Amino acid sequence: MDIMVNANYVMYNQAQGKEVVLAEMVEKLEIKGGIPLIGDVFIGGAKNAALPALAAALLTEEEVVLRNLPAVRDVRTMLKVLEYLGVKNERINESTIRLKAGTPTGDTAPYELVKQMRASVLVLGPLTARHGEARVSLPGGCAIGVRPINLHLDGLTKLGAQVDIDHGYVHTRAKRLKGTEFTFAGVTVTGTENLLMAAVLADGETILNNCAIEPEVGDLAVMLNAMGAKIEGIGTNTLKITGVERLKGADYSIIPDRIEAGTYIVAGLITKGEITVRNCRPEHLRSFLDKLTEAGAELEEGKDYVHVKPSPKLRGADIKTSPYPGFATDLQAQYMALMTQAEGVSVITETIFENRYMHVPELLRLGANIAADGHTAVVKGPTRLVGANVMATDLRASASLMVAGLAADNTTVVRRLYHLDRGYEKICRKLGGLGANLKRIN
Ligand code: EPZ
Repeated sequence: MDIMVNANYVMYNQAQGKEVVLAEMVEKLEIKGGIPLIGDVFIGGAKNAALPALAAALLTEEEVVLRNLPAVRDVRTMLKVLEYLGVKNERINESTIRLKAGTPTGDTAPYELVKQMRASVLVLGPLTARHGEARVSLPGGCAIGVRPINLHLDGLTKLGAQVDIDHGYVHTRAKRLKGTEFTFAGVTVTGTENLLMAAVLADGETILNNCAIEPEVGDLAVMLNAMGAKIEGIGTNTLKITGVERLKGADYSIIPDRIEAGTYIVAGLITKGEITVRNCRPEHLRSFLDKLTEAGAELEEGKDYVHVKPSPKLRGADIKTSPYPGFATDLQAQYMALMTQAEGVSVITETIFENRYMHVPELLRLGANIAADGHTAVVKGPTRLVGANVMATDLRASASLMVAGLAADNTTVVRRLYHLDRGYEKICRKLGGLGANLKRIN
């Protein structure tokens, strides 16, 4: 059995007097590959828009209703963090949740939860702004990198917060944050989101320079303005925020998940199928779709769909990941799996994270020809993929193994499925609906 001593997935069973491993910990995905996918798949709400939107509920004592939330583990984890802080939540239906912060009764996001999901750090900005104090466990690194939050803390300090680090926790205090001008030393998605949520209640005007412009950042800004914030420059690298005394509630529906959409587009291509990915926003995937077209993919776009046509002649094409609107780092692993089936060489350069090639050794076990060294990986294709036991290490690496397994002959078993469940909802239902032959096994 695959036992990982990990505080998040092992619990002590009093009755049996021993540690038991939660079922989800040993769940696997068994994929019988080689079946061309056919049909329609419907994309859910963006995980990386849902997480800041949930944190934003801390900014008001009024009710916030969020719609189009994906049924993924990270959303459930963020709800646990919010409950810890006194935010009540009520599920209205599968993708709609009603939240009510009232007056936060807590100011601590504990290690056990932050360790499960670094994006818990997104409560830092809103809690400091609304509550005047926050204690958030330092997220620590993860499989893909060290993942520091120094830029978040520099910005909060510039806004007038007292920021201390003790016993692995960030502790912020501020009577009231004060508007300022701050330039990010590096582009950071959650850093931009944290400071945006801090600045909306600050006293006076804040200018944030060198902001991330991922669609999820823009979605948060639009939601905050719907709550009564005054944010200008949405979609640009410079955000101007005029602080207000308080924010009201909102009823907001978040954008579709561009990374889920990109993952299913790869699934259609790598299995040489013909699928339509619906409820997505092709304009949020521009770099990715242009690159796929360069690699020989036959794609047709509509306002809210991408139609993947049979594309028998894929050829290698190089990519270099970069902040939006560049090629998304969250689609690098899935693209790499696809390039194992393309004719020729593809040079992949990962510029955002220092260790985002954990999927390479597992793809090699399926028969891929990839040489990874530092930030660069060279893929030679096409190579025949044959099913094997593979291990997921992080969210997007597991997506890469899933799409490779769909293309591989025989059976692929992906272990540590909880990584995949963090960011992909209803995997078996959605892929099964496209004709894939897969099931979850314990
Ligand atoms: C967000 O992470 C996403 N997560 C990530 O998606 C995504 O890969 C990443 O942005 C890049 O697009 C969420 O939105 C919840 P960053 P984030 O701060 O905000 C360095 C997924 O698969 N940095 O933009 O943590 C950092 O180390 C996840 O859904 C600092 O040095 O990423 C990295 O090298 C994985 N100091 C680079 O900047 C800081 O204070 C970009 O990180 C902050 C970041």
